[in-house]
Amino acid sequence: MNEQTRAIHDAWEHPDATGATATPIYQTAAYAHTTAQELADVFAGRAPGYTYTRVGNPTTAALERRMADLEEGVGAVATASGMAAITAVAVALLRAGDEIVAAKGVFGGTVSLFEKTLARFGITTHFADVAHTEEFAAAVSPSTRFIFVETIGNPRMDVPDLTGIAAVAQAAGVPFVVDSTATTPMLARAGAHGADIVIHSTSKFINGHGTAIGGCIVDTGHFDWARGPFEDVRQWGERAGPMAFLAYLRNLIYRDLGGCPAPMNSFLMLQGLETLAPRMAIHCDNAARLAEWLGGHKAVQWVSYPGRAESPFYERVKAQYGGRGGGLLTFGLGSRQNAFRFIDALRLAKNVANIGDVRTLVIHPASTIFHEFNADARADMGIAEDMVRVSVGLEHTDDIVMDFQDALEKAFEVQR
Ligand SMILES: Cc1ncc(COP(=O)(O)O)c(C=O)c1O
Repeated sequence: MNEQTRAIHDAWEHPDATGATATPIYQTAAYAHTTAQELADVFAGRAPGYTYTRVGNPTTAALERRMADLEEGVGAVATASGMAAITAVAVALLRAGDEIVAAKGVFGGTVSLFEKTLARFGITTHFADVAHTEEFAAAVSPSTRFIFVETIGNPRMDVPDLTGIAAVAQAAGVPFVVDSTATTPMLARAGAHGADIVIHSTSKFINGHGTAIGGCIVDTGHFDWARGPFEDVRQWGERAGPMAFLAYLRNLIYRDLGGCPAPMNSFLMLQGLETLAPRMAIHCDNAARLAEWLGGHKAVQWVSYPGRAESPFYERVKAQYGGRGGGLLTFGLGSRQNAFRFIDALRLAKNVANIGDVRTLVIHPASTIFHEFNADARADMGIAEDMVRVSVGLEHTDDIVMDFQDALEKAFEVQR
């Protein structure tokens, strides 16, 4: 079946005894078992079942099954946020002294996690430019433990050559970890392009309505955990086979870090998933139209949208994402002051630190998500001072364009 259908009916679906069509919300912290032996068996992994929602929950399990199905992975673990997903993968794969090779200009929270928080535990991150795949190979060392990219860099709007970087990871014998938040499984299954682990912030397009924070980790099953430099994971291989990484994650790292989703949030993510395919199609169409319109406006200095033929990444978008450039774009208005004036003049689009909502959202990244980095670091990450990021929503395209047109007119009149 197509992704659009599998987002609604997953392969493991079985009828609920009541006939309920929506996944029930198991709003419970723990699970009673009739005998002490039974609970002991579940704890030891000798019997299936649930013990405590920090480790597993039936509503969350339904979300995990559907995500694993859409990514065609061996399984998934859902988390409390996208950052919790990235943190869990990093903690699972790294020890003090290890290194990460990551794409420059990924989400600011991820840069902060790698460069600041993990650095306190002896981890070094080397950043490479996805415009130059060879920089990834050059940054790899014997201490590298994973390579990390986003399918479309947020907010740099650059697109990695996934198969090219996957080959670098394979040669280094380490997993290729891909944050697929901006594309979702509807534009690309990252595993088909060489990803070993796929990460999502489900808070964004998957939820789709800005109503909950969540994340997800999928093991595509491509990485041979029996061979990698991951002794801890290898030990789980004897019990869990191809599920070694996810079993190790769930039963140790995820359990210990405590970043589980609330069951209600897993339900909201499942609801979002069911309409993800048609929503992504409209997000992409609206973003493409707005990018074209902005490109023709005299107050706009530059537009970056990977789905435009002018983008240096358009060939990769065609090859990897079926020619669809996603729902995000950035553009420049010449100065921070101009960007602020424009944002203040918008009426429909909201000034919000989020993406992937039904509503059109804008933000000035340099003064918000990247405010804690100095000007040089921001420039190096490709965060221009005049940049406005837009997460294009599902309003009628004409209304989005009209809001931008009115705001540009108002902003630049005020300036004059
Ligand atoms: C590409 C990307 N990855 C990860 C995250 C972090 O996700 P969350 O906010 O759900 O923790 C974000 C958040 O903006 C993001 O844009």
